[in-house]
Amino acid sequence: MTIWVPTLDRSKPLYLAIADAISSDVDGGTLAKGDRLPPQRDLAWKLGVTLGTVTRAYKEAELRGLLSGEVGRGSYIRSGNAVSPIPPIAKETDGIIDLTHAIPPPVVTAQEFDSALHAVMRDPRKLDLLDYAPPDGFALHKVMASHWLKRSGIDANTRDIFITAGAHLGLITVLEAISEPGETVMAEGVNYALLRNTFKNAHVEPLALEMDSEGLTPTAFEHAARTTKSRILYIVPTLQNPTTSTMSMRRREEIVAIARKYKVTIIEDDIFRLLDARVQPPTFYTIAPELTYHITSLSKTLAPGLRIGFVVTPQGQEKSMRSHVRTMASRTVGITGEIARYWIETDLADTILNRTRRELASLRASFIELFKGCTFRCEPGAPYAWLELPEHWNVSRFAAALMAANIKVTPGSAFLLVPSLTPRHIRICFGTSVENFKVRKAFETIRTLMREQDEDEFTPVA
Ligand SMILES: Cc1ncc(COP(=O)(O)O)c(C=O)c1O
Repeated sequence: MTIWVPTLDRSKPLYLAIADAISSDVDGGTLAKGDRLPPQRDLAWKLGVTLGTVTRAYKEAELRGLLSGEVGRGSYIRSGNAVSPIPPIAKETDGIIDLTHAIPPPVVTAQEFDSALHAVMRDPRKLDLLDYAPPDGFALHKVMASHWLKRSGIDANTRDIFITAGAHLGLITVLEAISEPGETVMAEGVNYALLRNTFKNAHVEPLALEMDSEGLTPTAFEHAARTTKSRILYIVPTLQNPTTSTMSMRRREEIVAIARKYKVTIIEDDIFRLLDARVQPPTFYTIAPELTYHITSLSKTLAPGLRIGFVVTPQGQEKSMRSHVRTMASRTVGITGEIARYWIETDLADTILNRTRRELASLRASFIELFKGCTFRCEPGAPYAWLELPEHWNVSRFAAALMAANIKVTPGSAFLLVPSLTPRHIRICFGTSVENFKVRKAFETIRTLMREQDEDEFTPVA
């Protein structure tokens, strides 16, 4: 064939434009199996791009399964069928700005992802990743977890560490491992929205406890431990979801003293801790390693799609967990563990985490500025704000009015562990995938709406 010269969509990175052109020309039949692509230098010259761009484009096409490259022999079209590219993740569904997910802003760059994937490709042991992971995770990932946990001041024996497909599955597995059907589990009354159904599915009954500005109150905990048979406490002590509160050292010690007195096992969900760069009070695991199951994950700090969670069992009590991970399907996927391991071992994890912290700090600053004079909680590092609505607004009607303006937030009632008086709050998350200026615009709309009257409010006519 005459030299193949593609028409490029120059609005995207040029190497992607060339790789996409190979893809579409294979689909369209212009390029067929066995066709040889022009030498990289010739194509670079014809297209007026650098040799590096073409090299990267051919590599990308190779990764998509379109090209086979043999050193010294050139690049050949490998198959008549291109692997269709991943469909773009909708940034805004039907124009709606969705502020309901407690996720980090999407800060990872394509290069950071590529470098991890290339490291996996180059690894001579990569095929081992196609096997089932051991129930508690690959040994290398347990070591990675033990390093990561040191950031939270946790020095755990790898024997006690389990790698799970996210913190949520870690929690489900712990509940399964330590509770009996029908048992009552204590937790803060306003809590992680999935907790209510998680308890239901685990056949445990929730016991909603009173909170103050630091979260669970020792008085409520002591009363529940003394007057009921409940012997398990689930707690999110740092940047609690949704209130953003963090317990002081003193409060943690009081809770631990009560737990020791009444032999209560603590499930500590510490998934948000590292989003705040400041030194935090010690974890419950650090204070009481003999009675704490510590759960965390990389979802909020690196990327939720990795599905990597870590569970640390109380010292030397890993046996019941071990017998349950096998049946709970909580094991993780080796390849995403390798991506995390590459990031953590090369310090890219720090770069990503610092970027996330900066993004959240910037959105938080805008929020605080705009909502000056309103009542809300939004501690440093929190990926959301817990905003109290003025008396004149009904919370569900407020959320509905925002929805009409294409903004989605979560009404406070979603976070109630058991139905009770509905909080006058909404949770507004910062980590959406839409551009920051749109998030700020959404904040402005929310603020403006707060000043307006609830249309359904009864206004007496004099
Ligand atoms: C308190 C809390 N725990 C656990 C999870 C689930 O985390 P993962 O994505 O690691 O399963 C969330 C998610 O928002 C959460 O808010």
